[in-house]
Amino acid sequence: MVADDKRFINIAFNVVLIAKTQFIYYLQLILVICFAYTFTATGSWVMQSKQVLLIVSGGIAAIKIPELIRRIREQGANVRCVLTKGGEQFVTPLSLAALSEDKVYGDLFSLTDEHEMGHINLSRDADVLMVAPASADLMAKMAAGLADDLASTVLLATDKPVICVPSMNVRMWEHAATQANVETLKSRGVIMVGPTEGDMACGEFGMGRMVEPSEIVDALKTFFGDTAKPLHGRHAVVTSGPTYEAIDPVRYIANRSSGKQGHAIATALAALGCRTTLVTGPTQLADPAGCTVVHIESARDMLAAVNAALPCDIAVCAAAVADWRSADAPTQKIKKQAGTPPPALEMVENPDILGILSEAGNKRPALVIGFAAETNDIQENARAKRHRKGCDWIVANDVSPATGTFAGDDNTVHLITAEGAEDWPKMTKAKVASQLAARIAQYFEAAE
Ligand code: C5P
Repeated sequence: MVADDKRFINIAFNVVLIAKTQFIYYLQLILVICFAYTFTATGSWVMQSKQVLLIVSGGIAAIKIPELIRRIREQGANVRCVLTKGGEQFVTPLSLAALSEDKVYGDLFSLTDEHEMGHINLSRDADVLMVAPASADLMAKMAAGLADDLASTVLLATDKPVICVPSMNVRMWEHAATQANVETLKSRGVIMVGPTEGDMACGEFGMGRMVEPSEIVDALKTFFGDTAKPLHGRHAVVTSGPTYEAIDPVRYIANRSSGKQGHAIATALAALGCRTTLVTGPTQLADPAGCTVVHIESARDMLAAVNAALPCDIAVCAAAVADWRSADAPTQKIKKQAGTPPPALEMVENPDILGILSEAGNKRPALVIGFAAETNDIQENARAKRHRKGCDWIVANDVSPATGTFAGDDNTVHLITAEGAEDWPKMTKAKVASQLAARIAQYFEAAE
């Protein structure tokens, strides 16, 4: 009886021990899952150990920078500050140093700083350069390529991504000079965060307020989230829509392209983290989010805009470029005169943008993709076009009226590459775009 009792107590003890171990194991598992969920849901992981070089220029919004540094560091990123002379009027180097737990840099010609940490190293050590607040003056220097203090020199010498958080008086923001500078910076890939509308320190109301630190951190999270995307660091130029070729100042020759496919491709590339420049003829479509959009009318304008956007890694020529234009487009309206015959329209050939890009020597994008709108013998014609134009891939589609491809939402395409032809089933233009963008990402992954 005593022996049985002992055995019973032993078994009970072991059961309790196993249950306790299992309980602790499951509790730990639940805690890990909860932690991982919170971490992922808040996006905190994307900024872990990232290096942010924060360039603080002169503006009243600089008083919010200590709060911004605190919030960036809460996300696990490190902050190092460059403070301009103007910035120093609003926030002290000591407060930035205390919050960033790092030295604050400000002097271009400091012998000790150049020895310990040259202006090139400031940029080299960073994952991103953030200018906050970005004054009208500093953005003007950036656009002009000036380098007369440490902040502007670092910004000119960097090959890292740059985010600008503008802050200024409403009229300074709306001034044509500032707007032109902002467009120049955007076309070079600078990311703009804000400004926003609201009351200003100067007592006025309008656009020009710096966005709040929490929104700036959200923009940084989006940026670092994008760096994990497959086409991050690549630049694509996409042409879309029709071109208008002038006959005189009021008349033009156009075509029925809606731009839907080209715009969808630009959207899909941007969604994969690609810096995307969309050069588009006139369409009814809204500008796709996340792309730099250049609006043009004629084929020659489109070529100029494409050339201005180079270099790029990927070119997708989805525009329906007019093959010909009127040889002579007078600057005055051609008058209808009683008794005289209608004017004869002499046509000349337009530049072939796809062909020019394919033969662009050291400026040739790594991947050049053309479209072939065909009504018969689609694959055969598309293969011939790939050779004639010298591009890498051709996306061939049937545009015979029965398909409703022009202006419609669906497309049936064939992808022609050096390896052969793939027939894609009928799908929406958005799906064609995302599938093509995924193929482009695979191409670069395989090439790495
Ligand atoms: O020669 P075709 O117009 O059939 O070729 C179609 C392809 O060439 C499309 O990718 C179109 O965007 C491009 N193209 C061009 N410049 C032109 C004519 C066509 O980029 N002038």
